[in-house]
Amino acid sequence: MTGETVAAAAERRWAIVVALIIASIVAVMVVTGLHWSAMPPSRVETIDPRTLHVKGEFVEANLGTSMSPDGKVVVRLVAQQYSFHPPCLLVPAGVPVTFRGTSTDVIHGFLVAGTNANVMLVPGFVATFTTTFRKPGEHAMPCHEYCGSGHEGMWARVKVIPADEFRTRAGRGERVSCVPR
Ligand code: CUA
Repeated sequence: MTGETVAAAAERRWAIVVALIIASIVAVMVVTGLHWSAMPPSRVETIDPRTLHVKGEFVEANLGTSMSPDGKVVVRLVAQQYSFHPPCLLVPAGVPVTFRGTSTDVIHGFLVAGTNANVMLVPGFVATFTTTFRKPGEHAMPCHEYCGSGHEGMWARVKVIPADEFRTRAGRGERVSCVPR
């Protein structure tokens, strides 16, 4: 075998590998595209971002953490360029906490450092997830979707306090947060 035939065989092998990689990427795109357009994710909740602040669930008085008489804890928050409201969330430790959030303008998102809380906030949709913070402490909550020139300054904090202390503060059904007044 001459050097040329060895080189040609090697090139042919690599061409086949590359063709297989491209074919599998295209297959993934086609399958997910068709599959997702045929079956959108269940439980899609929509909301009008233009009237968010004047009526409905996300009016200012309703933002923050609330505890219903049966003990369910819900955090409602709104993201906008370039802040979260409320900017400091108060939650109990060791109790499931449901987050409900949306955006008034562009796509934002947040994660709570050191936990599995991580979600995108898309205008027109309500994002929701439930998580449990294991112990009291304070976490940073940065915006993690690039949302414009002020993106890197878009932060909030999550303060986790003992469950009984939280119950004392939120037990009357009021919205609570750790925003200093
Ligand atoms: Cu909001 Cu990045």
